[in-house]
Amino acid sequence: MNLIIKLTIFLTLTLSLLLVEPVFSVRHGKWVHETVNSLASEDLVTDLPGQPEVDFHHYAGYVTVNEKNGRALFYWFYEATTNSDEKPLVLWLNGGPGCSSVGYGATQEIGPFLVNRDEHGLKNNPYSWNREANMLFLESPVGVGFSYSNTTGDYAILGDDFAAHDAYMFLQKWFLKFPSYRNRILYIAGESYAGKYIPELAELIHHKNQDPFLYIDLKGILLGNPETCDAEDWMGLVDYAWSHAVVSDETHKIIKESCDFNSNDTWSNEDCSQAVDEILRQYSEIDIYSLYTSVCTDTSDDSDDKSTLVAFRHNSKMMPRIMGGYDPCLDEYTKKFYNRPDVQKALHVSDGQDIKNWTICNLHIFRGWTDSKASVLPIYKKLIAAGLRIWVYSGDTDGRVPVLSTRYSLNSLGLTITRAWRPWYHQKQVGGWFQEYEGLTFATFRGAGHAVPVFKPSESLVFFSSFLRGESPPFSK
Ligand SMILES: *[C@@H]1O[C@H](CO)[C@@H](O)[C@H](O)[C@H]1NC(C)=O
Ligand SMILES: *[C@@H]1O[C@H](CO)[C@@H](O)[C@H](O)[C@H]1NC(C)=O
Ligand SMILES: *[C@@H]1O[C@H](CO)[C@@H](O)[C@H](O)[C@H]1NC(C)=O
Repeated sequence: MNLIIKLTIFLTLTLSLLLVEPVFSVRHGKWVHETVNSLASEDLVTDLPGQPEVDFHHYAGYVTVNEKNGRALFYWFYEATTNSDEKPLVLWLNGGPGCSSVGYGATQEIGPFLVNRDEHGLKNNPYSWNREANMLFLESPVGVGFSYSNTTGDYAILGDDFAAHDAYMFLQKWFLKFPSYRNRILYIAGESYAGKYIPELAELIHHKNQDPFLYIDLKGILLGNPETCDAEDWMGLVDYAWSHAVVSDETHKIIKESCDFNSNDTWSNEDCSQAVDEILRQYSEIDIYSLYTSVCTDTSDDSDDKSTLVAFRHNSKMMPRIMGGYDPCLDEYTKKFYNRPDVQKALHVSDGQDIKNWTICNLHIFRGWTDSKASVLPIYKKLIAAGLRIWVYSGDTDGRVPVLSTRYSLNSLGLTITRAWRPWYHQKQVGGWFQEYEGLTFATFRGAGHAVPVFKPSESLVFFSSFLRGESPPFSK
């Protein structure tokens, strides 16, 4: 960067720091509120290594959610590519528990910059969801990605409730940095274990909204291959593995006869336990998150991988790390990228000297997670009654939270069908099928794994846009 440009940026930033009053400008023929506020401008990302050139602003940094214990959550926020002041705000959460929304959501799935396999930079994502909305990616809770606590004891008490409260505090404090989004329509989206996080956070927002000073204009939630109800999720996993030729009829029969997934003591039945282990053993040979793609064979380090299935087995409620899609080694590139000193400096994570240790999933969090709701279906009912838009989608080649798990879970809600099962289309092909219920839309993505947008980026963007408009996915060719 030459000196003149540096000086210009410096002056621009200094000027915006001095401005107490919001800036107004004429855009799209009317007066609009400028989004850049003095606090936000500190987080403006200006020289991210390897970043393609773009004409929208993006911001990254920390929001302190608990002063006393020193808890800070890391976010990365991309304004919409066009008309950002008119578009809604969408908070995206990945699951785990313990996995990073920046590492997965932002840089492997739906953000504007995707990690490149050459490990040296980022490539432009033509199907980025910030074409339709202002996208906010949060690493939650503390211990995930760059988010941290200065009180080590905090890491021992992580759970659903803890995560929801910190994420709520994050939103409120983030609005102080970005006041022009304070009254914006908000949606929360995410996948996997966020199937629990998201309804829980939505419920908390709904509850706190009784106080008009805290009001957040939450309009709906969007959930991909979500963990929903443990008993139904397990039944779906087992039936899916059998129906997709991963295990034998004999193994499936033993499970059907000996497993009581509604019990809190499922694994004390030896027959059940061994038969389920057989499923996991077969899945350990392939990518459980994407049955028909290859596994990554050139992982250098990560002894973590081997322990994944063990963790999966004994913390039966939990979701282990997820792997990439078409390129199963994406996790590796992502890890290298976020541990670069120049990247951490550009994202306001460290000074570039004393670097933070970033991992895509924190298995300590995953294993130590004690507070997990067995089912979020009662929350669904509450949110449906409150008039929130709830859309659930499912990549139908995922074995971890398979389409059967989601169908079993949703069926147990007993909602009235308002539009019967039918295909939805993308470029004259069947993108998947969908069914509408009173208060809920369910859709599948044909041939997509667990992290749907990795496999079906163009379809996902179209579907996301339907969700935002509150219209059915395109159902005529
Ligand atoms: C955590 O501790 C470090 C080192 O003392 C300090 O710089 C940082 O501001 C603290 N973080 C929070 C959120 O208080
Ligand atoms: C299992 O559930 C029963 C009945 O709900 C309860 O009495 C028991 O304490 C639970 N056991 C464990 C290990 O949580
Ligand atoms: C980062 O974390 C990994 C896994 O916990 C550990 O093996 C490694 O030594 C850590 N690196 C640094 C620089 O702290």
